[in-house]
Amino acid sequence: MVDPDLTVAIAGKTLPNPVGVASGTFGFGEEYEGLTDTASLGAVYTKAVTPEPRAGNPPPRLAETPAGMINAIGLANPGLAAFLSEKVRILERLPCPAIVNVAGAVMADYLKVAEAMEEVDSVWGIELNVSCPNVDHGGMAFGTDPKVLESLTYAVRKVYSKPIIVKLSPNVTDIGEIARAAESAGADALSCINTLTGMKVDVLRRQPVIPRGTGGLSGPAIRPVGVAAVWKVSKAVGIPVIGLGGISSAEDAMEYLLAGASAIQVGTALFGEPDIPGRILGGIKIYMVQEGFSRIADLHGFF
Ligand SMILES: Cc1cc2nc3c(=O)[nH]c(=O)nc-3n(C[C@H](O)[C@H](O)[C@H](O)COP(=O)(O)O)c2cc1C
Repeated sequence: MVDPDLTVAIAGKTLPNPVGVASGTFGFGEEYEGLTDTASLGAVYTKAVTPEPRAGNPPPRLAETPAGMINAIGLANPGLAAFLSEKVRILERLPCPAIVNVAGAVMADYLKVAEAMEEVDSVWGIELNVSCPNVDHGGMAFGTDPKVLESLTYAVRKVYSKPIIVKLSPNVTDIGEIARAAESAGADALSCINTLTGMKVDVLRRQPVIPRGTGGLSGPAIRPVGVAAVWKVSKAVGIPVIGLGGISSAEDAMEYLLAGASAIQVGTALFGEPDIPGRILGGIKIYMVQEGFSRIADLHGFF
């Protein structure tokens, strides 16, 4: 049997395969040089970029939980100017597409970063982080109100011509309605899910482990929530859906693909196994060959 076609089409452009690495778990790629075979990645989704540098939240920013972890990084990043002068060079070296995750407190922040990305050839597309639960202003507010999300996506569409992926939050009542709002305003694809709001309490200190109280829960614990979200969203829209949340094996990835995802991202699992994306891709290929699929695009639509 010939090798299956693993390419993923988004807005007339192509990702070489469906397995990407999730925003915030891969930095801008430099820490993973020598640990992860970036040539086998479908895409690197960078850490969020905001107009100004952000130091992020006070430590501890991470707490281990059953089958996952809680993080409250607070969008720590070097800011747009340092991204353009330092990080772009790292993205240029990547042998796979680089998708820049964009965040902000107000709409003008998103527009400023998106406008700057339009000029950067090594950026394949952008992912709008409208779903970060770990900052006090912005982020999440854009992803929980369909009208607000529609205006944001529409405004970004006007200044950015390459693929726009809107990253959805699971912390909403009707994720299908939010997904439709992003699609109607011109999003090319949707990624879901971002983290779920969670809290861990230190019972002897009688305080939350994370100083700001809540954080974002990720890892295997959230996978069933992510798979259900992808299923609902892929029924609600006609644009590609990129699934993530708790993927740490080819079988996990297959759950998302069968539920309606066109591609997937691996996040928390990278911390334990930086080379896991290649193994997940290998497992997807084996599944396709054994089950008689020749195109990744044929994997969904069964339920
Ligand atoms: C330490 C950490 C930092 C993250 N930073 C971002 C970020 O900057 N932008 C974003 O859209 N998502 C961010 N996320 C969310 C992940 O991209 C992903 O949506 C989530 O962790 C679920 O996937 P996983 O269970 O495979 O980690 C972050 C997650 C973690 C664990």
